[in-house]
Amino acid sequence: MTSQEIRQQFLDFFKSKEHLIVPSAPIVLKDDPTLMFSNSGMTQFKDYFLGYKEPKAPRIADTQKCLRVSGKHNDLDDVGRDTYHHTMFEMLGNWSFGDYFKKEAIDFAWELLTEVYKIPKENLYVTIFEGDASENLERDQAAYDFWKAHISEDRIINGNKKDNFWEMGESGPCGPCSEIHVDLRSEEEKAKTPGVQLINQDHPQVVEIWNNVFMEFNRKADGTLEKLPAQHVDTGMGFERLCMALQGKKSNYDTDVFTPLIAKVEELSGKKYEGILENEKDIAIRVVVDHIRAVAFAIADGQLPSNGGAGYVIRRILRRAISYSYRFLDMKEPFLYELVAVLKNQMGAFFPEIVKQEKLVTEVIKEEENSFLKTIESGLIRVEKLIQQTISETKKVLPS
Ligand code: SER
Repeated sequence: MTSQEIRQQFLDFFKSKEHLIVPSAPIVLKDDPTLMFSNSGMTQFKDYFLGYKEPKAPRIADTQKCLRVSGKHNDLDDVGRDTYHHTMFEMLGNWSFGDYFKKEAIDFAWELLTEVYKIPKENLYVTIFEGDASENLERDQAAYDFWKAHISEDRIINGNKKDNFWEMGESGPCGPCSEIHVDLRSEEEKAKTPGVQLINQDHPQVVEIWNNVFMEFNRKADGTLEKLPAQHVDTGMGFERLCMALQGKKSNYDTDVFTPLIAKVEELSGKKYEGILENEKDIAIRVVVDHIRAVAFAIADGQLPSNGGAGYVIRRILRRAISYSYRFLDMKEPFLYELVAVLKNQMGAFFPEIVKQEKLVTEVIKEEENSFLKTIESGLIRVEKLIQQTISETKKVLPS
């Protein structure tokens, strides 16, 4: 299945379960002082959870462009160094606003994964919230019982507040969550180490793919929890990880979400991507193909790189890509802007903003590359001068 088909099947499935399908909100948030970027699918629905606004429909589903590069959810340092974290990623989500709750959410998730996507049941594990005495929160026995109808009890794992109590930020809607993990290792590896031991252990092929949050609380600015007026469901499935699982790959970068971008980088740089984890060239290629998506979509959604706030975060991501490609791909001239057309061909059918803004995005990235490469070059000339100066001064003081 192509990534496009995988995305469409998700939406079709939830449409068949009476969900209204809505477009992704922009990646950049302009009207939420607690958050710069959409860091999950639920951000555009925050006011529905808090009871400030009436939802458009009691059930909604979509794919949301998310960015986790600042604040509470920040994956930037892992990006490129591993095979499954990203700056921008798509989060497939379904929501219930005061409509269905734990049972239906769990049943839907299981049906979609095992009957529609046909992921072998023996490759799946789930986690539930074990409770937290300091917050006076109980173990999520209801989620445990609903999962028991689908999966054997030795595959239902207790998780602590860090992993199984989801919060949007320092404040905002939150609640216990139940994650679904998939084990993509070979049979040989599974025989050596049971998957259950690798859940939440940063194993690149035993990864969380879907988080089902049961929104019941609002974390207030003073840190206390208050009950929300109603109970809601907020789920988020990592699209790129799902593609890895369904396309039989071991890395998100080996799926067709990334391979066209990687092929273009190979063509422009003359360097071959080998998918090696600790190889600097391969890290650089992963950084480039990841970061170009974040930067291109942020600009398409109206956030230009700048010296402050959200614009500065975007500029830093772009500069990280330039710096990696300068150092490890020998790319001394602008080239990232040439990836925008590839991105447009690949994602434009679903995200029309990248088609509409292609010219602007391309020009802004090229301009940023030009200016940062000049800064790097002049910095290097200064360093070179300092080295020469130090050498000649050292020669003067040392006896010949
Ligand atoms: N908000 C939850 C998450 O981001 C589920 O969508 O994991």
